[in-house]
Amino acid sequence: MKCNSQILFSLIILSICLSTISVTSKYSKSESNSDSYILACGASGAGTDSDSRDWQPDAKHINSSGNSITSTAENQDPSLPSTIPYMTARIFTSESTYKFSVPTKSRLWVRLHFYPSTYSSLDPNNSYFSVTANSFTLLNNFSASITAQALTLAYIIREFSLIPIDSGTLNLTFTPSSKYNDSYAFVNGIEVIPMPDIYQPAALVGFSDQAVDVGSSTLQTMFRLNVGGQFIPANKDSGLTRIWYDDTPYLFGAAGGVTSQASISIQYPTDNLPNSIAPLDVYSTARTMGPDSKVNQKYNLTWVFQVDANFTYAFRFHFCEYQETKVNQRVFDIYVNNRTAQEGGDVIGWAGSQGVPIYKDYAFYVSDRSGDDELWVALNPSVSVKPEYYDAILNGLEIFKLNDSRGNLAGPNPVPSPMMLQAEAKKGFSPSVSSFVPVIGGILGGSAGVAVAVTISIFVYRKRRTDYGSQSGSSANWLPLYGNSHTSASRSTISGKSSCNSHLSTLAQGLCHHFSLPGIKHATKNFDESQVIGVGGFGKVYKGIIDQGIKVAIKRSNPSSEQGVHEFQTEIEMLSKLRHKHLVSLIGFCEEEGEMVLVYDYMANGTLREHLYKSNNPALSWKKRLEICIGAAKGLHYLHTGARHTIIHRDVKTTNILLDEKWVAKVSDFGLSKTGPDLKQTHVSTVIKGSFGYLDPEYFRRQQLTEKSDVYSFGVVLFEVLCGRPALNPSSPKEQVSLADWALHCQRKGTLWDIIDPHIKEDIDPECYNKFAETAVKCLADHGCNRPSMGDVLWNLEFSLQMQDNPAGAKLVADSETKDTYSIHREMAGVEETGVREGNDEPYTSEFFSQIVNPKGR
Ligand SMILES: *[C@@H]1O[C@H](CO)[C@@H](O)[C@H](O)[C@H]1NC(C)=O
Ligand SMILES: *[C@@H]1O[C@H](CO)[C@@H](O)[C@H](O)[C@H]1NC(C)=O
Ligand SMILES: *[C@@H]1O[C@H](CO)[C@@H](O)[C@H](O)[C@H]1NC(C)=O
Ligand SMILES: *[C@@H]1O[C@H](CO)[C@@H](O)[C@H](O)[C@H]1NC(C)=O
Ligand SMILES: *[C@@H]1O[C@H](CO)[C@@H](O)[C@H](O)[C@H]1NC(C)=O
Ligand SMILES: *[C@@H]1O[C@H](CO)[C@@H](O)[C@H](O)[C@H]1NC(C)=O
Ligand SMILES: *[C@@H]1O[C@H](CO)[C@@H](O)[C@H](O)[C@H]1NC(C)=O
Ligand SMILES: *[C@@H]1O[C@H](CO)[C@@H](O)[C@H](O)[C@H]1NC(C)=O
Ligand SMILES: *[C@@H]1O[C@H](CO)[C@@H](O)[C@H](O)[C@H]1NC(C)=O
Repeated sequence: MKCNSQILFSLIILSICLSTISVTSKYSKSESNSDSYILACGASGAGTDSDSRDWQPDAKHINSSGNSITSTAENQDPSLPSTIPYMTARIFTSESTYKFSVPTKSRLWVRLHFYPSTYSSLDPNNSYFSVTANSFTLLNNFSASITAQALTLAYIIREFSLIPIDSGTLNLTFTPSSKYNDSYAFVNGIEVIPMPDIYQPAALVGFSDQAVDVGSSTLQTMFRLNVGGQFIPANKDSGLTRIWYDDTPYLFGAAGGVTSQASISIQYPTDNLPNSIAPLDVYSTARTMGPDSKVNQKYNLTWVFQVDANFTYAFRFHFCEYQETKVNQRVFDIYVNNRTAQEGGDVIGWAGSQGVPIYKDYAFYVSDRSGDDELWVALNPSVSVKPEYYDAILNGLEIFKLNDSRGNLAGPNPVPSPMMLQAEAKKGFSPSVSSFVPVIGGILGGSAGVAVAVTISIFVYRKRRTDYGSQSGSSANWLPLYGNSHTSASRSTISGKSSCNSHLSTLAQGLCHHFSLPGIKHATKNFDESQVIGVGGFGKVYKGIIDQGIKVAIKRSNPSSEQGVHEFQTEIEMLSKLRHKHLVSLIGFCEEEGEMVLVYDYMANGTLREHLYKSNNPALSWKKRLEICIGAAKGLHYLHTGARHTIIHRDVKTTNILLDEKWVAKVSDFGLSKTGPDLKQTHVSTVIKGSFGYLDPEYFRRQQLTEKSDVYSFGVVLFEVLCGRPALNPSSPKEQVSLADWALHCQRKGTLWDIIDPHIKEDIDPECYNKFAETAVKCLADHGCNRPSMGDVLWNLEFSLQMQDNPAGAKLVADSETKDTYSIHREMAGVEETGVREGNDEPYTSEFFSQIVNPKGR
């Protein structure tokens, strides 16, 4: 039983929400200490970031009479967590030094923040520089731009831990590379914070009796993972403002074990372990191998990390046993790069009892043999000691790079994947391109490639904070907005200005109306503000009147935003080929003078969400809700099966289900849609996009998209409709934040009825409710293969509606009729080869369905 990914997922969600709530939580003493420096470089005054940390200007610490200038970034990447410190920078055209007076006995955190962007018209590609901290080289020939590109991040944080400085002065020197013309150095943020000495000698793996004195070296943090747990932001750390990331992206292979959370209370032991080692959150979640001893013997629980060769790395494994109670119940070996680091590890044996945190340090030298720039960490049961269970456990993992004998810590810049470069080079229209549109966040360390999913949790957690207010309160964003401001965004800084004319396929151009710009201006009173009915990442949406008084919604790209060009094209390409009663219709578009405008049917009743909660609209009746769900299910079913290729919507949620004046549900927002696999492949591999609260945990884990991801999101929609509350509600108690988790929890406990929307409790027929809830629960199955198809969902919803209308009759038929009848009709409606389907040719008609299930109708 591997249901724990659900838990993992909910933890991620939780972390997002909790961090959203706790914006105001306080920082540790050391942070407010006068010995700490938290500098927003190039800023003219002090400011506070979105985490409520205070940043001071940097001018006092640098010789401003020299060779540096301050500048503001020309573009603001939508994924930046905060404008402070990233939007301002200090630029150095020759060697320059920051000076800090620091305590002499204390190790220091030095964190450097870089946001590669265009500053003062300087080409970010020209920036190569080194950074030294007294005698240590932290970075050399460093290109923030290449690094960010390779890691698909918008900004980069590098964290170092310096050995104590006897002289009491830290010189932090930035030197532009002399190997390149016009090279310059820059930095956006600097943190210099005294820290306790938390490092000790670590056994050198591969040698029986050698240890490395980690504490006497300067370190770079490469990875810091809350294994089996959630992202932990700096303000939730145990006083050292460290960031802990989810370990999922680093797991090797399909066998990822299972995650769990402690149900007992975990406490620091009274001696030996300072609280600063790691927050209790790290110790109260873990990844284990799974319940099946036979399976566990046959695989290694493995994580893989990209590192630089020719360095020694220190590993800190954090453990806390909260499931087993005795010695020799769970005993395991630890391997690093296929060498044994630990035999017969037994957490209870080490810690003395259950619920007590413990950590173990090891060191390993990574040489330059080919293929050795990867670190493999693996756990496997110690079969030889015959433990009670063949299993292993890990709660947290930190990996640090040690300075080499010359005091160097710098490695080469990571190499961007050729595929990604290629995709960026021809960033015209092509559905596959979006797989490579970088998804953003900040991350420590130098790993390439696998960083993506980690960054998402960060990104979304940051994003939520800024967008939540606008999202929850407003009812104006009911139009098909794309470049979704509240979902993953693409980078705005990469693509250049492009001529729009060649973007659309001739097919798309032929299929929908091409409006003239003057016509559009006329319809919107020259884009008058009074006509604005919504704002999204892509730009504003206007109400307009065309031809003989037909009301339309007009979506206009923000001329200054490059973001969304791709979504614009996707939406036209998708919508122009799809016509269905339950999909929003694109009437036409306009591409002139750099304007990109889409014209849609006007949806008089707005989004489904604004009729469910947090609005002044009267509550929808249960029957109307059911009909809307059925309509939306038909739209999605059509996307999955009705067009030439399976189309996966990727962003199913209540704000993307629109209602026309007759309350007909229409699925909208195809900006993220992807054409699904052709028959042979079973999934599309892709960078994760979509909206949190609705994201399929399996998609999140494996980054493989199938139409079952839409089914999952639709399951969340069904619960939203049933319970009348948002998919994510950060102001709820912990366990209720994520609707998907809360609903499943209540369903298991048999208390689901208690959380349904009081407005509909009276209306709802118990049989209808049972069928509906059962369907919604099935949609949320952890594994896609266990979820029903959209067609089955539709069938069940229709059935549920029949029960509401005619409880006795529907029941009768349920026993005699099988789904086969329906399957036949599904096949009839199946794959059509023209690629373009017209009109409302639904898979089958409601009347026909009624005939099947309602005996009176025959
Ligand atoms: C700046 O440079 C001047 C002259 O080179 C020197 O006197 C002064 O101490 C320097 N200030 C700092 C903060 O280093
Ligand atoms: C920087 O380099 C990348 C690829 O190496 C290129 O695509 C991009 O256009 C360059 N940027 C500028 C401003 O020249
Ligand atoms: C820092 O720089 C100053 C001069 O700029 C120099 O006198 C001092 O020795 C340097 N300190 C260290 C530890 O390198
Ligand atoms: C730098 O510029 C000089 C003169 O403009 C040129 O000769 C040299 O090749 C350039 N070097 C590089 C690395 O581009
Ligand atoms: C590692 O060290 C060896 C020997 O000093 C050197 O030849 C090699 O280039 C180094 N590799 C890297 C990646 O720096
Ligand atoms: C460790 O062993 C696996 C196979 O067991 C191999 O694929 C992998 O490359 C090895 N890793 C290292 C770093 O040698
Ligand atoms: C686990 O990893 C170790 C070290 O690389 C290897 O010797 C062992 O065969 C692996 N076990 C399995 C079941 O793959
Ligand atoms: C790191 O630098 C310190 C001080 O220079 C030195 O004592 C130590 O040996 C270095 N670490 C390694 C692993 O070489
Ligand atoms: C500096 O980095 C660039 C990009 O990674 C690389 O192509 C170049 O060879 C490096 N130069 C030096 C001197 O190491």
